[in-house]
Formats: sequence, structure tokens, C-alpha cells
Amino acid sequence: MIENKVAIITGAAGGIGYACARRFIEEGAKVVLSDIEEERGIAATQKLDDSGEKAHFIHCDVSKSREIESLFVKAREKFGRVDVAIANAGIVHVADILELEEEAFDQVISVNLKGVFLTGQIAARHMIGQEPDEDGSRGIIINMSSLNGVLAIPEIAPYVISKGGVNQWTKCLGIAMANRGIRVNGIGPGSIATELFQTIADSPDKYRSVLSRTPMLRPGEPDEVAKVAVFLASNYSSYMTGETIYVDGGRMGLNYVVPVD
Ligand SMILES: NC(=O)c1ccc[n+]([C@@H]2O[C@H](COP(=O)([O-])OP(=O)(O)OC[C@H]3O[C@@H](n4cnc5c(N)ncnc54)[C@H](O)[C@@H]3O)[C@@H](O)[C@H]2O)c1
Repeated sequence: MIENKVAIITGAAGGIGYACARRFIEEGAKVVLSDIEEERGIAATQKLDDSGEKAHFIHCDVSKSREIESLFVKAREKFGRVDVAIANAGIVHVADILELEEEAFDQVISVNLKGVFLTGQIAARHMIGQEPDEDGSRGIIINMSSLNGVLAIPEIAPYVISKGGVNQWTKCLGIAMANRGIRVNGIGPGSIATELFQTIADSPDKYRSVLSRTPMLRPGEPDEVAKVAVFLASNYSSYMTGETIYVDGGRMGLNYVVPVD
């Protein structure tokens, strides 16, 4: 489905980004893993492929446009082109809504919303000048959103706001690029068992409360998000753009709670 495609993934040192990198390589793609955390990112990349032929690490802070531009230039120098860009890097800040500080708000918005905007804009500028591949695609952009792009948790308001913005950005860029050979879609994960989720998993009360809102009665695995990214990166989603797919064990459709033993 995605054999020989070249993908850039931001925030790929761990969690969902890393799972996407691993799954993409398994499916025959070449991946540039990128993260603000260089040591963890290099270790993750070497774990996937220490030859450097299929996986390569490039440092990038997605809140800085010049770092993203340099990421795309270096990725093209390494692998020749960029077929897929996954704007995955994201952070959360927990605070009472009346105590939330301006700096914390700015920081979350600058990584989760500005970072996804800049990654998509710079990706599209690079992709638009590329020759189309055999499927007629110049490039694919995938934005990592969240169920919190449509549902709300007041204690993480900046995160919720950022993901709502990401969904609208997915529509804007998707429509703007629709007849230029670039497709743009989003993924909205529910509760996925990454480090981010571990603090919830460690608290029995919080864990029960998450499961009571999850019809499948379990958190998702990072690879279950990665497999949807493969679908969106492939020609199997050829008539989709501007859309966000929710990978949430049924939570979005739930109008009450489910019993948890
Ligand atoms: N885990 C979940 O349950 C869940 C649910 C919904 C959405 N998501 C989204 O999925 C994405 C990945 O989340 P995760 O659970 O894997 O989290 P994670 O914390 O394991 O991974 C996020 C990665 O982003 C990196 N990062 C942070 N700031 C950065 C910056 N400025 N520039 C570049 N990289 C930066 C971190 O170093 C980290 O490696 C995020 O956008 C998150 O909002 C996760």
C-alpha cells in the first residue's frame, strides 16, 4: 500500500509517532523520524533500523518554522522526495480553567496548532513541486488530532482548543490542495496506551472512568492508530480529503456510560 513512499513523522521519538514509524517501515516505506528530544529520537530510530537506509532521525521543534523547513530540505536530501508528512507532535497542559496561565496556553497552541499548521504549509510547498507518483499523488498530509477536537475536557482547555483548530486546518488545507494532487486528512485518537496515557492507567479510579466511556472496554494500542495512518497514506483512501477519522473504541457514538466490572 505504501511501499517505497518516504514519510516524515514529527514527534516520533515515542508513542503514536514511533508506532507510525515502525508500521510504515514494516509496510515498506522509508521514514524520517523527527522530534524535539534528540537522544530519545536517535535511539528510537536505531531500534527500527541501524543501517540508516529505512529510518533516519532529524531534530525539529515544530513550533519553529525554520526548523521545519530545514527538516523537509534535509529529508529530501536523504531520500529524494517526501510523499507523506504526519504532523503528530503534541503536548498537554493540565490546569484549572481559572488558574490557567498565559504562557502555558501559548506553549500548547504553539506546538499543537501552530506546529501542525506550519508542518502542513511547509509540506504542501515542498510536495506541490514534486512529480506525481504512479497514483497521481504529489503528497499526503496527515494531522494527528484527538477526540478532544470535538469533545471537551475543561482541565486541558488549550489542548481541546488546539485540536479543534487542527480539525478546521485539515479542512482548509484539504480543500485548498484538493485539485493539486495533495490530500490532507486527520486522525482523532481516543484513549491510546502511550506514556501520555500512563498516568491515567496508573490510577484505578481514572482508568475505570475512561473505560466507562469506551464501548470496547480497553485503551487503543498505538499501532491501531498507525494502521489508520497507513490507510490514509495509501491510495486506498484516494477519494478522501479534509476528513478526520476517529479511532476511539466507539466513544464518539456513546450517549451514556458502559458498565465496568
Ligand atoms: N495517547 C493518546 O491517548 C492520544 C489521544 C488523542 C490524541 N493524541 C495525539 O497523538 C499525538 C502523539 O501523542 P502520544 O500519546 O504519542 O504522546 P507522546 O508524548 O508519547 O509523544 C509526543 C512526542 O512529541 C514530541 N514533542 C513535544 N513537543 C515537540 C515539539 N515542539 N516539536 C517536536 N516534537 C515535540 C515529544 O518529545 C514526544 O516524543 C499528539 O498530537 C497527541 O495529542 C494522543
